[in-house]
Amino acid sequence: METKALFDERRSVNFFDKDKNIEESQIKEIINLAVLAPSAFNLQPWRILVVKSEEKKKRLFDLANQQEKILEASATLIIIGNKEGYADANPVWDEMLQSVGGNQQMVDGAKQAASFLYGSTDERKLKFAESNAGLLAMSIMIAAKEFGVDTHPMSGIDFDGIHKEFELKDSESVVMTICMGYYDKSKQLYPRRPRRLFEDISTII
Ligand SMILES: Cc1cc2nc3c(=O)[nH]c(=O)nc-3n(C[C@H](O)[C@H](O)[C@H](O)COP(=O)(O)O)c2cc1C
Repeated sequence: METKALFDERRSVNFFDKDKNIEESQIKEIINLAVLAPSAFNLQPWRILVVKSEEKKKRLFDLANQQEKILEASATLIIIGNKEGYADANPVWDEMLQSVGGNQQMVDGAKQAASFLYGSTDERKLKFAESNAGLLAMSIMIAAKEFGVDTHPMSGIDFDGIHKEFELKDSESVVMTICMGYYDKSKQLYPRRPRRLFEDISTII
């Protein structure tokens, strides 16, 4: 699909066709395209839980203000940001070392910078996790549309409850959930609400 059409046609779909399953291979294809999203130092401080079983969907439904779309959508992704994704444990550092031809000094410099920029306060850690994973989330929604799959992002959820139920680490943050499936065309979507434009939101300085 053309990029402009992707933006025009992506909607937060409220009504998913319960009978239309999204194949795991399709979810994989979407996610493997979406990971081309940019991230600081290419650290990719994120992971995704794909909630597909009826049992886990029901648990998530209760932790998402019982928003019906969780039960109707074929899968719901829990987008998780890693607040410590700048640290040594991130395997991306090893890949970076290889990518820069084994220049350890360069990688150490980048590690030091990342550690200061993203790890020196709790606020920075959270910003790091959520800004990067937020870009992944948008990328997933656009990639899904490219493959004819509809989505719905959600933050009307119990973040702490989801964190506990799905046994996330202390260093992890639930960024949002994204329902994924196929729009039930027998139901009418709300008309798309207008956006505030350049004149309203931008200042050239
Ligand atoms: C971070 C985020 C959280 C959202 N949370 C919810 C939610 O919990 N429930 C809901 O019905 N819609 C939710 N939405 C969907 C928005 O209402 C929707 O994106 C907006 O109205 C624009 O509509 P459109 O995406 O169809 O263009 C959320 C959207 C975003 C980006």
